[in-house]
Formats: sequence, C-alpha cells, structure tokens
Amino acid sequence: MPLPEDFMQELRAKSDIADIVSGYVSLRRSGRNLVGLCPFHGEKTPSFNVNPENGLFYCFGCGVGGDVITFVMKIENLDYMESVKLLAQRAGLAVPENSFDNSNAKLKMRILEANRAAARFFNSQLYTEGGQAALDYLHRRQLTDRTIRHFGLGYAPNSRYALCDHLKGMGFTEYELVQANLASKGANGRIYDRFYDRVMFPIIDLRGNVIAFGGRIMSDAKPKYLNTSDTLVFKKSANLFAMNFAKNSGENRLILAEGYMDVIALHQAGFTNAVATLGTSLTSEQAVLMKRYSPEVMISYDADEAGQKATARAIPLLRNAGLLVRVITVPNGKDPDEFIKSHGIQGPARFKQLIDNAGNDVEYKLNRVRQNVDTETSDGKIKYINEAVKILAEIDNRIEWEVYASKIGSEMSVDKYAIIQQIDKLKRQKNRAESSKNFRTLQTATSAKTDRINLQKADNLRAAKAEEALIAFIVNNPDSAKKVFERLPSDKLITDFNRKVYKCIQERIQEGKSAMMMDISEFFTPEENARIAYMLLNFTQQALTNDAVDEYIQVILRENDKKILNDVAQANENDIQDFLNKLKQQKK
Ligand code: UTP
Ligand code: MN
Repeated sequence: MPLPEDFMQELRAKSDIADIVSGYVSLRRSGRNLVGLCPFHGEKTPSFNVNPENGLFYCFGCGVGGDVITFVMKIENLDYMESVKLLAQRAGLAVPENSFDNSNAKLKMRILEANRAAARFFNSQLYTEGGQAALDYLHRRQLTDRTIRHFGLGYAPNSRYALCDHLKGMGFTEYELVQANLASKGANGRIYDRFYDRVMFPIIDLRGNVIAFGGRIMSDAKPKYLNTSDTLVFKKSANLFAMNFAKNSGENRLILAEGYMDVIALHQAGFTNAVATLGTSLTSEQAVLMKRYSPEVMISYDADEAGQKATARAIPLLRNAGLLVRVITVPNGKDPDEFIKSHGIQGPARFKQLIDNAGNDVEYKLNRVRQNVDTETSDGKIKYINEAVKILAEIDNRIEWEVYASKIGSEMSVDKYAIIQQIDKLKRQKNRAESSKNFRTLQTATSAKTDRINLQKADNLRAAKAEEALIAFIVNNPDSAKKVFERLPSDKLITDFNRKVYKCIQERIQEGKSAMMMDISEFFTPEENARIAYMLLNFTQQALTNDAVDEYIQVILRENDKKILNDVAQANENDIQDFLNKLKQQKK
C-alpha cells in the first residue's frame, strides 16, 4: 500500500487502540490487557482483549483480531483505505494524495453515486404518467406525500432499460451498474435493469449514503420484495432499515419490526425509533449495532406463527448483545402497519398503549407457555412450572428469578422455594455443559490441527511455538532483537507463515522503523492479522528471560538440523553429492 511511512507513523501515534475501541465497547483493565464484551459476536462473559502496548485486539471467543485499522474496518464495515481515512480524520491528519489508487475506494464511491442517482430517478418517476399507479398504491396504503419524500420512496418503471439508460447517460459505466447490483448482465452480454415495475424503498446507512434498495411488487405476484444483493457497499446482515432516522429519535429504545412497510407506518405515526432487518432474520451483528445506539429493544414482529417464531429467535440474540428486551403484542393477527391503520386517527395512541403494556422477554415467554396449557389441571400446572423453570434458568440475575418464582408460586399455589431450587439445579447443569463446550471451542480454535493460517504448525509444534514466542519477544524488545536476528536468520524458521511474519518485522527493525502490530498489518490478510494478534497477546503475558530466548533459538536450530538429515535420508546419490559439495563450499 503506497502510504508514506511518516504519515503512517503519525497516524499510529495518534490512534490509540484503547481510545478507539472504547468508543464502541466498554472495557475494563485486566492485567496488561483491557477486556470487554466482543462487539463482533454475542457473548455474556468478556473474551474480547485489547493490548494497548502492542496496539492490538483479539477475541478468544470468535477469533477476530488485529490492529486498530482492522478494528475500524470490521466495526464500521470499511476497507483498508477507508479506515485509514476515518482514523486520519479523527486524528486531524490529511491523507496524502494518490494513495487511493490501489483500493476499491473509487469503485465504492461510484456505486454510492449511482445508487443516489437511481434513488432520485425512482422518486421522480412517481410524478410521471407511468408512475401514477405506484403513487396511487402508496397513497392507498395511506402514506402521506411527506412520508414518501422523507423515505425517498420511488417507482422503478416497467421497462428493462429505463434506469440503465438514464445512468449511462450520466456517465456511469455498465461495470459500475452491475457492481451496484442495479443492473444484471444477460446471456447476450447486454445489461438490463434489476428492478422494474416495483415500488422502491431506498436503504440508507448511518452516514446518509444510499447503499441498497428494496422493491415491492404492486400485485400478488412473487417475489413480493426484491432486494439488492450484497455489494461492495452493502452487507444486508450488518444494516438495518431506517436506522439512519431511528438513531436520532431521541428515544432510549428502538422498535424492531419485520417489514419496510411496518417501519414506515410506525415513523409516520410518530414512532421514529422503529427499524427492520433487510429481508433476512436478525443477526448478532445487527443486535450489536442496535446496542451501540440504545440500551433497549422492543420487538414488534407480526402476530402470526412465523412472526412469533422469529421473536423467539431474536430474544437471545438481543439479550446476548446486552440489550434489554420487551415484546409488543399486536392483537388479532395484525402487523403494526395494519394495526395502526385499522384504528384510523386513534392508531398512534392505540399503538402507544401496546408499547406501554409490552412485557419484557421473560414475561412474554411465560405467557406463551401458559396460553398453551390448561393450568386448571394438575398436569397442566406441572407442565407450566417445568417450562417456566427452563425459561428462568436462562436468566443470570438472581433477583429476577426470585421475582418470577414468587409470582408463579402464588399463581399456581406452589412454594416459591421449590421453584427456585429447580432453577438452581438446572442452571448448574447448564453451566457445567457450557463451560466444557467453551473449553472445547477454544481448544479447536487454537489447536494446531485445525490451523488454516499456519499449515505446518501441526507437524512442527515445538518449533512453531518457539517461533511465536520469539516473534513476540522481538516485537516487545526491538533493542535486543538484533542479537536474535544474528543467531537466527529468517530462513531458519521452520513454518512458512511464522517466517513471513519474522522477516517482515526483521526488515522493519533493521531499517530503524517501529514494528508493532499496526506497522505490519498492511502486509497481511485479515485472517493472518488475527493470528498475529493472537500470537502477540499469548506470548506477551510472560516476559522472556535471556535463557528462554536462547532455548527457543536452539529448538529452532535443532529442528533445522533434523530437517537436513531427513532430506538427506530421502535424497538420491546426486542430491547427496550436491549437498556435500555445498557443505565444502560453505567451509571455504
Ligand atoms: P412482509 O411480507 O411482512 O412485508 O415481509 P411488509 O413490509 O409488511 O409489506 P406489505 O405490508 O405486505 O406490503 C417482511 C419483510 O421481509 C422481507 C422484506 O424486508 C419485508 O419488508 N421480504 C418479504 C423480502 O425480502 N422478500 C419477500 O419476498 C418478502
Ligand atoms: Mn405488512
């Protein structure tokens, strides 16, 4: 990457990883590291580590890791250059010109521009003759002109070339339109519009960019919605519809609905904190995104069986992201959009009542069970209590159990302590199962056998570990590194991956440059960086003595000798002759 060294130096100095990560994750000190709940996967106990000395982070739960740039790439969903740019902005530095040539940044910018132009085009079509039916459709669904403008809704005309022709006329290339997923390429090589004869919903990210579209057909034909596939600027599992508005709603909770239409109807009714997923079920990434803006989420999915299933799935995802969860129950099988409309001018007030009456996730689950058993009979009572115990055992908070156990106890005329005892027992079983499962995952994640980054580690375990310890040593002690380099030239390292890392650090130190995580990350893939972060974190815990360094070097050198002997054993006569000649020459 053609970024000047002095710029990177300054950027590094001004981008403290602890500061930056703290903007997203709440961290507490633990030894030399800071730890917190991983923002990249849902978890209840912190396995996300930040090591400020080495400028790195690593999560033992999901294996992501790297330097501050990698962190920004992942959490903001940006590429390398964009993250550098963001960090530079934050640090008040100007990114040197001409450093963008090698990245996707330019294509991404073009895709965003094409999307914006497309959104304008779709919107303007609503006010043409061909778009009249679409405008009528939106009005029929009781959307006001103000709402249509606010959400930038539009109409993709009933033609296979209207948008392509329009955008090509503006100077966009066919390649750009296909990359934006606004067009597809046919078998004849010609490109055509992906969306036609549909009402269009632009999807806007937190910075106000149009990143994708959902298009609804106006008849009962299928598919009902067509969405932009993932592109360079759009990852559907990491975005939420209307989050750009909801984040400014001023509410301290979000409403999570199922559909675009629900969200729009809710916003029009004054609930500007509503968001929805984008044609897929909720992901933990989306839950973590919501947590960044709000401490609480109210699920308001459709009242049908599918909606209730989706609710049951969403609850643990949201809880694991650290969110408080409530569930809004819309009566009579309606979705929020239909509910609000069915009450005419009273719609917003009635929905507000539903919000006020919404129970938390535990109450919701208990109610669901209770509705399905007859608690008048003893069998039904026992069934209900058993199911309730299972639900309560999911909770970590003892006070919460007590509250529910008392309530259920008095409703079912059972001693609350009997219920608590059951919860306790189940909880202990679960904890045991969980901790052995966690241990196994950690083992596989770090075991040499499944190592996809360092393929030779499994067969050279001792040497690979010595290499890793030495790499951590030279990074942490650049002043003493020279002695290591003299005794252990990079070609002596046994495993290819570690050799590559070692060499990269050696070159930098010998040129008098710094060789922290951030200085070398640009030479490696994200997976490789995660591995380097892990290596440094693991071996930085204990400071190495000189004796230990010696020992590690010896281990590697001995492995080299063994390798040579092995090679000799397998070689034919010519090879042996070559080998001996080489030895002779070396001696001279
Ligand atoms: P719904 O069918 O509930 O849609 O699907 P809706 O938003 O309420 O639309 P109306 O009221 O019928 O017009 C919920 C969401 O699932 C995704 C869309 O994101 C939709 O908003 N979906 C649904 C698709 O992506 N494709 C489909 O074919 C259907
Ligand atoms: Mn609907």
